[in-house]
Amino acid sequence: MSIQSVAKKIVKPVVGERGWQALRRLRGKTVRTRPTEPAPPKPTGVAAISDDLCKLAAHFKTDKWGAHKYAQHYQRYLQHLRGEEFNLLEIGIGGYNRPGEGGASLRMWKHFFPHAQIYGMDIQDKSFVDEDRITTFIGDQSDPESLLSVQKKIGKLDVIIDDGSHRSPHVITTFHTLFPLLSDGGIYVVEDTQSSYWPEWLGSEDLDSPDTSMGMLKRLTDGLNYEEFVDEDYEPTYYDRNIQAVHFFHNLVIIEKGVNAEGTNKRRALKSRYAGTP
Ligand SMILES: C[S@@+](CC[C@H](N)C(=O)[O-])C[C@H]1O[C@@H](n2cnc3c(N)ncnc32)[C@H](O)[C@@H]1O
Repeated sequence: MSIQSVAKKIVKPVVGERGWQALRRLRGKTVRTRPTEPAPPKPTGVAAISDDLCKLAAHFKTDKWGAHKYAQHYQRYLQHLRGEEFNLLEIGIGGYNRPGEGGASLRMWKHFFPHAQIYGMDIQDKSFVDEDRITTFIGDQSDPESLLSVQKKIGKLDVIIDDGSHRSPHVITTFHTLFPLLSDGGIYVVEDTQSSYWPEWLGSEDLDSPDTSMGMLKRLTDGLNYEEFVDEDYEPTYYDRNIQAVHFFHNLVIIEKGVNAEGTNKRRALKSRYAGTP
């Protein structure tokens, strides 16, 4: 028995006369398919790891991954900016006064953010790091004038990272000078907050000290809830009104800027306290 007659015996009862005739007409006709697109070439080298900050940090040898475990947190909180055009400023380019050393993290940011302008500021001259989309400035983060002059040259600041001297008074000065100039929706990061606990680094062993970087950062968390304060005379600060989240990690703090005005239910919850008040 031929294949055709076996097929007829099995298929025709299933598809019926009309279906069988249609199948016969199709027989011998080649089915047209779209020519397959050639697969895009697989990225190699640093391009192959450009979406993975931990790998990029290791590749460019910044201590943001390895000595510290920061890259994973940056990945989570900065991932949404990968396709965006924006300005990132990192204070502390690396290498201190060693000639030709530094720039690792700026190179990492450049590869993670293909459309961003990457700026670095350091108390030392790091101009050898300058290249397409990377610009460095000399500046001292303990001096507000120095910080403001760098900000003026850059313009809009969308991400600010403080990885400079790690001295609490400098961290506080930098935050008070630059945070108000950060874009709405921007991200402000303070690295190496462990130095806040070290008197030798101008920190303090007093966990409640108001003069340390961690003291300042911890106070921001109460500001998130300023609308719930019962003191009617409390005047919210700029930080109260413009911080939406403060994320604390081991030695790293990430702050999200944005209008903080969700409202409060305190008048309903504390009826007797507010009875008779507008
Ligand atoms: C830890 S390194 C930065 C590492 C770099 N961000 C990285 O991840 O690869 C700190 C840098 O801060 C710089 N620095 C120290 N004091 C500073 C200050 N007062 N103002 C600006 N930069 C400062 C140092 O010269 C040094 O290069």
